[in-house]
Amino acid sequence: MGFLVLAFFGISLLVVPSPLVVADPDDQACLSNLRQSLQDPTGKLAHWTKENLAAPCRGVISDLEGVTCNNDRIYKLSLVGFSLRGSLSPFLSNCSNLQTLDLSYNQISGPIPAELQSLVNLAVLNLSANSLTGPIPPQLALCTYLNIIDLHRNQLTGPIPQQLGYLVRLSAFDVSDNHLSGPIPPLLANRSGNLPRFNSSSFAGNKDLYGYPLPPMRSKSLSVIAIVGIGLGSGLLSLVISFTAVCVWLRVTEQGMAAEEGKVGQLMPDY
Ligand SMILES: *[C@@H]1O[C@H](CO)[C@@H](O)[C@H](O)[C@H]1NC(C)=O
Ligand SMILES: *[C@@H]1O[C@H](CO)[C@@H](O)[C@H](O)[C@H]1NC(C)=O
Ligand SMILES: *[C@@H]1O[C@H](CO)[C@@H](O)[C@H](O)[C@H]1NC(C)=O
Repeated sequence: MGFLVLAFFGISLLVVPSPLVVADPDDQACLSNLRQSLQDPTGKLAHWTKENLAAPCRGVISDLEGVTCNNDRIYKLSLVGFSLRGSLSPFLSNCSNLQTLDLSYNQISGPIPAELQSLVNLAVLNLSANSLTGPIPPQLALCTYLNIIDLHRNQLTGPIPQQLGYLVRLSAFDVSDNHLSGPIPPLLANRSGNLPRFNSSSFAGNKDLYGYPLPPMRSKSLSVIAIVGIGLGSGLLSLVISFTAVCVWLRVTEQGMAAEEGKVGQLMPDY
């Protein structure tokens, strides 16, 4: 009996992992789902194995490439220039202690998940130089600690959400070289003074984006003038042509009538 109890104790000591390894289930879900949504053709995520993903924060420096932990929670995810493809998992929102999300310089496509809104500690969001499509989620404005939003060089469409202007801590904002359209939110462009909050380099390279601090669209206003000119010109031309046609027609019928009158005059007997 005593032997059995001892054996059981021994086995459970072997099976139960060291109490120092505290794996947060949200961090586990976050990273395993991200691993599944990404493709890693160059093997930069070699240590993102099932075993390591089960305990992402084994030490201060995680076994997982690009992951940094603090108090057994992931606080930084930096996979810069890893040649990653695939898409951004909405489960990224489960990494609820995340302060830095830097996935710049990859070939990640698809949308920016609106679920990122629940990353309430997020200070740095750098998704620049990828192939992201779709809109900039207005929900990002709920991440009130955001210092940096860098989304430059993607294929994002739609407007810049006005709400992002309310992020008071924002010190860097770059959405240049996308396919964004519409007006630049005044809260992102104008300070109380005359200097812009973010200058034209933050917004350049978006064909249909307009407003201060971008220079006025000269080519577009020129073409508007050209279109108005062509319209007015062709209108005038058609007026002149129809007027001339009416005149000619009148002249012809007048002559015809005069000739008729002449004939009638000749046929009429004189009294
Ligand atoms: C975002 O990442 C790119 C590439 O790693 C870097 O060059 C850029 O400076 C970062 N943006 C900000 C605002 O720090
Ligand atoms: C922003 O600043 C520009 C240039 O100083 C000015 O023309 C424009 O009216 C301002 N817009 C707002 C909304 O204050
Ligand atoms: C915009 O501001 C940045 C610094 O915030 C500066 O490096 C850059 O030269 C400025 N660009 C323009 C076009 O003024």
